[in-house]
Amino acid sequence: MNELPIELLQSSQTPVYYYDVELLQVTLERLVKAASIDHRFKVHYAVKANARPEILRIIQSAGLGADCVSGGEIKAAVAAGFPADKIVFAGVGKTDKEIKLGLSYEIECFNVESIPELKVINELAIKAGTTATVALRVNPEIDAHTHKYITTGLSENKFGIDMCQLDAAVKLAQELPGIKLKGLHFHIGSQLTCLDSYKLLCDRINELTSKYSQMGIEFPIINVGGGLGVDYDNPDENPVPDFTSYFKVFKDNLKLSGNREVHFELGRAVVAQCGSLITRVLYIKESTTRSFAIVDAGMTDLIRPALYQAHHAIQLVAHDSNKRETGVYDVVGPICESSDVFAVDEKLPVLHRGDILAIRTAGAYGEIMASQYNLRKLPGAIFNK
Ligand code: LLP
Repeated sequence: MNELPIELLQSSQTPVYYYDVELLQVTLERLVKAASIDHRFKVHYAVKANARPEILRIIQSAGLGADCVSGGEIKAAVAAGFPADKIVFAGVGKTDKEIKLGLSYEIECFNVESIPELKVINELAIKAGTTATVALRVNPEIDAHTHKYITTGLSENKFGIDMCQLDAAVKLAQELPGIKLKGLHFHIGSQLTCLDSYKLLCDRINELTSKYSQMGIEFPIINVGGGLGVDYDNPDENPVPDFTSYFKVFKDNLKLSGNREVHFELGRAVVAQCGSLITRVLYIKESTTRSFAIVDAGMTDLIRPALYQAHHAIQLVAHDSNKRETGVYDVVGPICESSDVFAVDEKLPVLHRGDILAIRTAGAYGEIMASQYNLRKLPGAIFNK
């Protein structure tokens, strides 16, 4: 894959996000090829991971649909060219305005997270003289073994309809005149690095679909959510996630009858590796116990380390990086918060004021989660094409 473009990055304003468009395209090609293992597999890109218009347009051109969680994301997806019949809308707290927007576009599917929400969508659909296509999001009680803030499939999480309420929700959805019940939706968590949890999810889905089949209820759509993880520690060794093994788990373990479609909602796996946060070293500050590399990017630009104790590989962007001695640094930002730390005890070439660092694997949940805390400017972006 492409190396980081040293001159471009050294001459850029910082902090800034750098996106490797070619890597994104290669990732999409491999994803589409791997998903073609079964013609019933359809991938929707989880827009929440990165909604930059340039990125959305590239993903749309590869033929993916869009998985949205707000009216803003639906509008961004439509503006980027995603056809409305490839847009799904999830989220525990859809407002009336957002539901009306989805109805007016006649989007592919509302992923419904509770019985009260189902009733509201029904009322609004009837008022609009239409019917809403719906999948019920089930909380499958499967532990994804990931960080607790990105675990979603346990009953203590706010997401989805509890298994014990599912029969009632299915019955209601079938009765409501403004609702066309088409599917079941699941999402067990994010940054899953072991595929075993997906096997358990397939077992749970098989149990449910066969139970409902015996009751004469078929679901033409099964949406298994997203969550495939990426290699944060070795972005150059693993620039593209193992999509082949991922889709194979579902091909081998999901019982698919007839034309039932399987929908996937991948976010991170599509965009994480193509983005880096580029930052400049402002000061090297020595304390009695530590060397701090104080950089101009902070948790406002990339909140993942502060919020999830996530580690992103950090790389010096310099022609002489291999020739320098090694130093050990705490790489920290300028924000007035003690959690504004990108890495502790990070081994890096000896650093100087003005050096450029790339904080890697930041294409997903990086720029999109940036804030203006401390009245900072949003980072913005540059591309290699
Ligand atoms: N579908 C649903 C219903 C979701 O809630 C999510 C992510 C996805 C799909 C996409 O998951 P992915 O393939 O990207 O793992 N900000 C956190 C991640 C939050 C994920 C929220 N839901 C992070 O930076 O790790």
